[in-house]
Amino acid sequence: MGCGVLTAVKNVNTIINDALIGKDARCQHNIDALMNRLDGSDNKENLGANAILAVSLACARAAAKMSKMPLYRYLGGANACTLPVPMMNILNGGVHAPNNLDIQEFMIMPIGAESFREALRCGSEVYHALRTLLKQSGKNTAIGDEGGFAPDLSGDKEAIELILAATEKAGYRIGDDVVIALDAAASEWQAENGSYFLPKQKKALSAGDLSKFWIDLCEKYPIASIEDPFGEEDFFSTSLLTKQMGNKVQLVGDDLFVTNPKRLSRGIGENAANSILIKLNQIGTLSETFKTISLAQRNGFASIISHRSGETEDTFIADLAVALNAGQIKTGAPCRTDRTAKYNRLLRIEEELSKSAVYLGKAAIKQLKNRGN
Ligand code: PGA
Ligand code: ZN
Repeated sequence: MGCGVLTAVKNVNTIINDALIGKDARCQHNIDALMNRLDGSDNKENLGANAILAVSLACARAAAKMSKMPLYRYLGGANACTLPVPMMNILNGGVHAPNNLDIQEFMIMPIGAESFREALRCGSEVYHALRTLLKQSGKNTAIGDEGGFAPDLSGDKEAIELILAATEKAGYRIGDDVVIALDAAASEWQAENGSYFLPKQKKALSAGDLSKFWIDLCEKYPIASIEDPFGEEDFFSTSLLTKQMGNKVQLVGDDLFVTNPKRLSRGIGENAANSILIKLNQIGTLSETFKTISLAQRNGFASIISHRSGETEDTFIADLAVALNAGQIKTGAPCRTDRTAKYNRLLRIEEELSKSAVYLGKAAIKQLKNRGN
């Protein structure tokens, strides 16, 4: 249906192969720049972002192997020691689920744990407690694109309340052990003239109404992070909200920045959001990803390393999160191989790091609280 990878594979095996044979895989910047030159377009449309990214990441893996180092150590050096706080997407809505919820992702962050493995245990226990609660009330327990449950509910507030009930049922303290993170993915809600329309609830909202909605929600519930609270071009509303609550809540730009340093620079300049979601295949090479992350770090923006809703079992992002001490990773529910592969890889890295492993837990949130304007 036009979504296969045969053209990308052919480009890897011919044009890219011819240019890279004999080059040193450790020269990541040169290799990525060479592929970008070969492609010649702004958005990697000639060779294909899939082809270029696959080779870019394969070079890093080859170089790590040649250096006899695990990938996180090769990428991050001696300083790579921080296991990320997972944002676990346990309830799916928006375009990721055929249900009636407009917010795309309802996530939990197990901040009270002392280690990554305990955080993962906490997240899994809350996830399974949520399943029991849904089952008991006769709700659907089928799952959405990122492994979270996808029931029909009365609205977004019921989704949050169910997650809080599941947290308590699993024996954890709301706010201390577990906090909530949301991805609104509000680009899907954009209507004409800068206003919004919730497609499932069929509700029209002005940007001001939407802003008030987020402020009220954060007053009512222990929400630590909101991603894309407005549409991808609405820097203005994002900036206003950042001024109002950026010192309390992490505001993440995903569609807003698309891992692109130019768009991130605009966000930094306009004070829009205080954190960036990092998706390798949005920008298309490892060295450009590094460039975006270092721009974020220099400007006090948090970087959250992220999967995609359509994923493979590849675990590169687990190593990348540790390598850069990013502190947060978004990789779905503790369910389905494409998601659990990343969690399993992080468990192995934590074992390997042994006593030098650091899990930030609450400190990740403290950092957020100190940030802002
Ligand atoms: P996507 O969703 O991979 O479908 O874009 C993930 C996200 O919005 O964070
Ligand atoms: Zn998103």
